[in-house]
Amino acid sequence: MNFSDSEIVASILTDRGYTATEEIQQADIIFLNTCSIRDNAEQRVKKRLQYFQAMKKKKPGLMIGLLGCMADRLKTVLLEEEQLLDVVAGPDAYRDLPRLLEEVESGQRGVNILLSMEETYADITPVRLETNGVSAFISIMRGCENYCSYCVVPSTRGKERSRDASSIIRESMDLFDQGFREITLLGQNVNSYSWKDGDEEITFARLLEKIAGINPLLRIRFATSHPKDISNDLLETIASHPNICRAIHLPVQSGSSRVLDRMNRKYTREKYMERVAAIRRIIPGCAISTDVITGFCDEREEDHQETLSLMEWVKFDYAFMFKYSERPMTLAADTLQDNVPESVKERRLTEIIDLQQRLSYESNQRDLHTVHEVLIEGDSKRSGDHFMGRNSQNKVVIFPKNNEKPGSYTNVKIQSFTSATLMGDATKTHLFV
Ligand code: 5AD
Ligand code: SF4
Repeated sequence: MNFSDSEIVASILTDRGYTATEEIQQADIIFLNTCSIRDNAEQRVKKRLQYFQAMKKKKPGLMIGLLGCMADRLKTVLLEEEQLLDVVAGPDAYRDLPRLLEEVESGQRGVNILLSMEETYADITPVRLETNGVSAFISIMRGCENYCSYCVVPSTRGKERSRDASSIIRESMDLFDQGFREITLLGQNVNSYSWKDGDEEITFARLLEKIAGINPLLRIRFATSHPKDISNDLLETIASHPNICRAIHLPVQSGSSRVLDRMNRKYTREKYMERVAAIRRIIPGCAISTDVITGFCDEREEDHQETLSLMEWVKFDYAFMFKYSERPMTLAADTLQDNVPESVKERRLTEIIDLQQRLSYESNQRDLHTVHEVLIEGDSKRSGDHFMGRNSQNKVVIFPKNNEKPGSYTNVKIQSFTSATLMGDATKTHLFV
């Protein structure tokens, strides 16, 4: 999400004659794009800004800006009290940046942290930063109003808004024409995407269908799906389009219905299991990954055991696992007690990480000696003699270079694996139907 915002900012400023640089020493303006979803990243942000201030002493005129979720909370202390910043722009204020920068040039400080009900940056074509030329992200929605009790997003990124479907389709076509072969559609809860085009209601499933129709060589991924909203219609749409990837990220957060209720997730353990069974039935071979929070308010040992048993039941292919950290301006911070001791949170986190390590290993073991269609992304990090790519299930696959190029598809037979990577040999190249 955040990275996609940086690309929007780069686009807005490029239109005004600025250019992005990878060399920080060359920059005339440095923006720090912040996210406050987990941990207290605020201390790190402050340290970074102090470092930029030191650079500014050597380079008077250097402008320093703070973007994103932390803008609102940190503006008083960092801008007014500690004077570490020239510009502060919240997630819905990026269009205002050129004006804010002008204010700074005329000796003021530029601040805009207003959240909007409408802003989706639909008409802005992001400038692709750090791109491999093969895969790109497209933001299809902004904001969230699910109010999971632990989550800061509804208060930092505002109301849920879907972006104009035609602008998403156009951006996808442009990316394909530029040689990109994989796009990931991003939103906090893509299943509630909805756009009215005249009389036609475009749901997420219809949007996927339209993008999948651009070209069979274009792969489509998406994140994140909320378990309460993932419909059979969507699963059937995926099943009937080979270029919609067989990988669903379905954050469970906890395996205990009691904890899920306190998290305000609006589903139970049983409902989650029913949705997983539907995925397995409708899309055989689909990978399922998840997010887990451990040590949420009042989480008991039996709740933790339920998380472990659910993970074991689903056999997640991959998981992002976090210790609960209380965030300001959330329902949990206001109404629940962060009462699981740190040492218990740590022990439980270690247990879920160890379990997931085994599950990922077993998932990769099941792929041994099977053939996968891999989209080549580029050189492997470890060796210039190897390519790195991904299969439809989003697993990283490494194999000795053949005469293909990044952006093309190759069949790879898996010969060995670790819990993180599949290794194999290219068999014969082919284009999928
Ligand atoms: N503490 C720990 N993890 C969190 N997440 C969101 N808020 C918190 C929090 N306060 C995790 C959730 C979410 C992912 C993006 O970040 O698992 O799915
Ligand atoms: Fe946060 Fe829940 Fe919205 Fe995800 S769905 S962004 S966890 S409030």
